[in-house]
Amino acid sequence: MVKHRESRPGQKSAGGLGAKPRRDISGKPPAKPAHASRPAKPSPRHGERVTEPRDAATASAAPERPLIARTGERPTERVPAILESLGAGDFHLIDSGNGLKLEQYGPYRIVRPEAQALWPPSLAAHVWDNADAIFTGDTDEDGMGRWRFPREALGETWPLQLLGVDFLGRFTAFRHVGVFPEQIVHWAWMKEQVEAAKRPLKVLNLFGYTGVASLVAAAAGAEVTHVDASKKAIGWARENQALGRMEKLPIRWICEDAMKFILREERRGNKYDIILTDPPKFGRGPNGEVWHLFEHLPLMLDICREILSPKALGLVLTAYSIRASFYSIHELMRETMRGAGGVVESGELVIREAGLDGRTPGRALSTSLFSRWVPK
Ligand SMILES: C[S@@+](CC[C@H](N)C(=O)[O-])C[C@H]1O[C@@H](n2cnc3c(N)ncnc32)[C@H](O)[C@@H]1O
Repeated sequence: MVKHRESRPGQKSAGGLGAKPRRDISGKPPAKPAHASRPAKPSPRHGERVTEPRDAATASAAPERPLIARTGERPTERVPAILESLGAGDFHLIDSGNGLKLEQYGPYRIVRPEAQALWPPSLAAHVWDNADAIFTGDTDEDGMGRWRFPREALGETWPLQLLGVDFLGRFTAFRHVGVFPEQIVHWAWMKEQVEAAKRPLKVLNLFGYTGVASLVAAAAGAEVTHVDASKKAIGWARENQALGRMEKLPIRWICEDAMKFILREERRGNKYDIILTDPPKFGRGPNGEVWHLFEHLPLMLDICREILSPKALGLVLTAYSIRASFYSIHELMRETMRGAGGVVESGELVIREAGLDGRTPGRALSTSLFSRWVPK
C-alpha cells in the first residue's frame, strides 16, 4: 500500500474532533515535552479513568506522524444504526431509572449508577433494595466508590459466560464489573466473521481491558493481538483465558500504549483483518503516554486504516462518555476510509431492559456511540 507521508497544503493535522490545533504537523517527533525528564506517572489501575491532563502539552508523549491525505469517495453510509441487545449469556438489564440501573450478572443482581436513566424505575423498590451488590460513591462516571453487599458479603470475582466464553465478573473500584456487555453486538458480529472466513483471521483488540472480546475471537478461530496499557487488566485477561482453559489459543497479550503499538505495526507492515478499538476518553500508557480521545482519535483511526489487511472485514470503534454526536465519529470514519469502498454504519449501542425473567422487553438504555466500517 502506498503511503503518503509528506505534509501537503490543506492537509489536516492529527488533531480534529474539535481538538486544539497541533503544535507540530511536520512529521518529526514532537519536541521533548517540558516534563520529559520527570519520572513517568504510574499506569492507571485497571479500568481506571485518568483525569484530563491540566496541560494539553503533556498529551503528545507518543511519537506521531501527520494524517495521510485521503482521496477517493467516502464509503456509503448507514445511519442511524442502533445496535440493540436484550442481553445474552449470563447478562441482562433488569430495570433502570432514577439515575441507576439494575443488572443481572449470573447469580447476582447489581445496582450501578447510570446517568442516562432519567425515567422512574418500573419495578418496585423492594426488588432494587434486594440487590446483591450496590455501587455507591462518586456520581461521576470515572469516579471511585465502593460496593455494598446488602444480602451477604461477596468475593471480589465470580464466574460468568458470554457467547460461550468463560470469564470472571469483578467488583472494581470504578463501578465496572470486568466486562462491558453492551459490546456483545460487536463481538457476535466479529464471531460470525471469524467463523465464516475460510482462513484464520487476524484480530487486533486495542484497549482490550479484561480480554472478553479477545477470547471470543480466539475461540472462534482468529489469531488475536490484545493491547492494553494496564498490567493489572492484562493479568485479569490471562486469568479469564485460564478459567476457560483457553491457554493454547493464539493470543498475544501486549501491555503497551495503544498508539505506540499501532505506529510500530505500521512501520513493520503488519496487518489485521478486524480491528476493535474501544478507547477511553483519557488514559495513560505504561510509560505515562497520555491518551486523549479528542486529540488522538483521528490519528489512531488513520493508522488503523493503514494496518488493515487488503481483505479486511471491519474496523470497529466504540466511544463512551464523550460529549459528541455519533456523527462526529461517523464522519471521521468516512474521511479515514475514503477510497476504500464499503459502508460506514454508525449510531449507538443500546441495551433493552428485559425484566426479572430476562425476556420482557422494556425501555432502551443508551450506552455508547459506535462507528463501524465494513467492506460491504
Ligand atoms: C473502556 S476500557 C475497554 C473495554 C473493553 N474493550 C471491553 O469492552 O471490555 C479502557 C481500557 O483502556 C486501557 N487504556 C487506557 N489508556 C491506554 C493506552 N494509552 N493504551 C492502551 N490501553 C489503554 C485501560 O487500561 C482499560 O483497560
